[in-house]
Amino acid sequence: MKLNIAKLPGDGIGPEVVDQAVKAVDAICRKFGHEVSYTYAPVGACAIDECGSAYPELTHQTCLESDAVLFGAVGDPRYDNDPTAKVRPEQGLLAMRKQLGLYANLRPVETFKSLIHKSPLKEELVDGADFLCIRELTGGMYFGEKGRTDGGDTAYDTNIYHRYEVERILNLAFEYAMRRRRHLTVVDKANVLESSRLWRQIAQEMAPQYPDVQTDYMFVDNAAMKLITGPKFFDVIVTENTFGDILTDEASCVSGSMGLLASASVGEHTSVFEPIHGSYPQAAGKNIANPLATILSAAMMFEYAFGLMEEGKAIRAAVSASIDSGVVTEDLAGDGKAFSTSEVGDWVAEYIANN
Ligand code: IPM
Ligand code: MN
Repeated sequence: MKLNIAKLPGDGIGPEVVDQAVKAVDAICRKFGHEVSYTYAPVGACAIDECGSAYPELTHQTCLESDAVLFGAVGDPRYDNDPTAKVRPEQGLLAMRKQLGLYANLRPVETFKSLIHKSPLKEELVDGADFLCIRELTGGMYFGEKGRTDGGDTAYDTNIYHRYEVERILNLAFEYAMRRRRHLTVVDKANVLESSRLWRQIAQEMAPQYPDVQTDYMFVDNAAMKLITGPKFFDVIVTENTFGDILTDEASCVSGSMGLLASASVGEHTSVFEPIHGSYPQAAGKNIANPLATILSAAMMFEYAFGLMEEGKAIRAAVSASIDSGVVTEDLAGDGKAFSTSEVGDWVAEYIANN
């Protein structure tokens, strides 16, 4: 197969971790006989520096013309504490999501046996937890009308959802539930928010079409607690943009490290594969960041964008092997030796080549 991949490393540790994912992709392509090409494009703070926009038109065109996007991270401390900044790196990510129509963000949470002790939660609570968070990604407060009134002293962000936006994400969620353990939890705040009541109404309308799926409804505050007290309860979680942002960071604690969580954003155009951890500027350029989430995002890319399941499995096997062999970066090393970002990447690529 010919794979045309847009490579958007972005800021902070993005370039380092994407480099390691590229090594894994190259190793897979050599092994399985695929032809791969990468087209680099700037996004985030580096794009602002280069061309004044966090998601330049040329980057968008590159994404549209590619079969998949491998994305690192965006963000830069230069902008974080400046509420007056006119352009921000994060706008690049949001613009990309909107313009590519990436309305669904899939964040699987799994546990690795040999890392269970790294979770801040009790071992017996997390051992065997395995769920998929589906976050709506192009609606809600992130994109609703926002602004200031009252001479700047009043600010608002509108949490708005249209029926078609809710229907398409719930559809996807029911379909994923069918392919998994057939248990869907719709997370909302229907006791307070009108937009949540629309979500719940539509979910209740759709549920009878999926009689094999057990559908529950859970308020987001309760879900936040349940993720910590009983994560094994969940199979597929579906929720709106802001709740999903918060709950998926929380959910990452279940697997022991943010450095392990991969994600796929899918929708109307090219899909984007990225780690959930962000740009981690303190570690940028130090060759210490954990590349496994990005490597696992590449596994998702093979599975979701190309339907190449064996290839995805081979990457996952290599990642598990690196964890089991203690070839991990400092965030996971504990008392053992900490390997560098590139050493972990090289080891994973070697493993793919030789197994
Ligand atoms: C994420 C990030 C982004 C978000 C930021 C960087 C805009 O936190 O992908 O979860 O809030 O969606
Ligand atoms: Mn987030």
